[in-house]
Amino acid sequence: MDSSLTQIRALIRAVADFPKAGVVFRDITPLLADAGGFARCVDALAEPWQGSGVQAVCGIESRGFIFGAALAQKLHAGFVPLRKPNKLPPPVVAVDYALEYGVDRLEARNDALRVGERALIVDDVLATGGTVAAARALVEKLGAQLVGASVVIELAALQGRARWQDDAPLHALLRY
Ligand code: PRP
Ligand code: ADE
Repeated sequence: MDSSLTQIRALIRAVADFPKAGVVFRDITPLLADAGGFARCVDALAEPWQGSGVQAVCGIESRGFIFGAALAQKLHAGFVPLRKPNKLPPPVVAVDYALEYGVDRLEARNDALRVGERALIVDDVLATGGTVAAARALVEKLGAQLVGASVVIELAALQGRARWQDDAPLHALLRY
């Protein structure tokens, strides 16, 4: 698995000063474009959850959809999109969350998850942790049972993990 993670890391491109000065953007598009790398990434995301009875993979718009949908197939689970505002038809359940500047919102259909359904959250990047925390609040608002969360990349310096209650595991494949 370690050599697999090394190969995955090599396929993520660092772009300085995007989208603004001082940010190192971790670009996953070379990883997605590499058939073997993408497959290894989905295998590695699935590994901690095999046998844990995940019934629904909840992917966060938009990059979380890419990994989440592939992971759902791998885990033989359904896929639930957690969407940015005004994309889903009503009725929806929503959670607002703080960004560095301003607020954003995640929405799901109000019947997207069954009460007690075993749900896993997936995204590409954990940065400040606000997005994943909002996804968790949304899953819990829907009455599902949170199994945990997986991200491909954790930006450790931003300490997003501190905003995650660790009664459920949060797995990251790679740390920067
Ligand atoms: C990025 C990333 C995560 C989020 C992490 O999403 O895909 O969802 O930021 O940030 P946080 O931990 O500080 O909340 P973005 O809003 O750029 O959307 P995208 O996936 O559509 O590019
Ligand atoms: N989302 C938030 N911060 C990011 C970064 N540095 N690279 C890629 N996606 C991000």
